[in-house]
Amino acid sequence: MRVIAIDGPAGAGKSTIGRALAARLGLQYLDTGAMYRAVTFIAMRRELPLHDTEVIAELSRQIDLRVDDDGVFVDGLDATSAIRTPQVTAAVSAVAANSGVRTEMRRRQREWAMQHGGGVIEGRDIGSVVFPDAELKLHLTASPRIRAERRVAEAGGDVDEIEAAIAARDHYDSTRADSPLTLADGSIVVDTTGLGIDAVIAHIESLMEQA
Ligand code: DC
Repeated sequence: MRVIAIDGPAGAGKSTIGRALAARLGLQYLDTGAMYRAVTFIAMRRELPLHDTEVIAELSRQIDLRVDDDGVFVDGLDATSAIRTPQVTAAVSAVAANSGVRTEMRRRQREWAMQHGGGVIEGRDIGSVVFPDAELKLHLTASPRIRAERRVAEAGGDVDEIEAAIAARDHYDSTRADSPLTLADGSIVVDTTGLGIDAVIAHIESLMEQA
């Protein structure tokens, strides 16, 4: 099973690079952040209390969840755009800090990799916890300003506000008790500030040739 792990903070280029790399390598791509967003979305839609860790953990075990190239589907609902709303973005870190939810998402991520013969898998804990034996572990990063500017280019908004929101979410994701965003053992830091997609992919391909 061939797994390439891509971790790093919001807006570092993980999705763009992950998808491009998967296409080059003939692997499937999995966005694990979309899974935490999907749990958050369905909990909010059902008006469940997000702070009730057991209720939300149980929800994460019960739902039918599919994340693939066609989009994100939860219990038959197409949630592809709904998981990217500011409301879900503001609430997702709390759901992602729920250990019961994380245990279930990791189980689903490993099952997905088994079913797909590995893949390019992006998130926050992929190289550190979910696939510590991945063939290649990348830690993508970029300056906070650039990350905010990329988000504004994708979805609009005020760059100062988005930079502050990203900083708050990074802090939460990096300081939670269960599998925080850290630099995994053996992972290679790639700073994408000022680099285009092609330059980043070329750099990663040269890393793979060296390995
Ligand atoms: O990458 P993203 O912004 O879509 O991630 C959404 C949230 O989920 C973010 O707060 C970090 C969290 N997350 C996580 O804790 N572990 C992962 N493997 C992926 C995302």
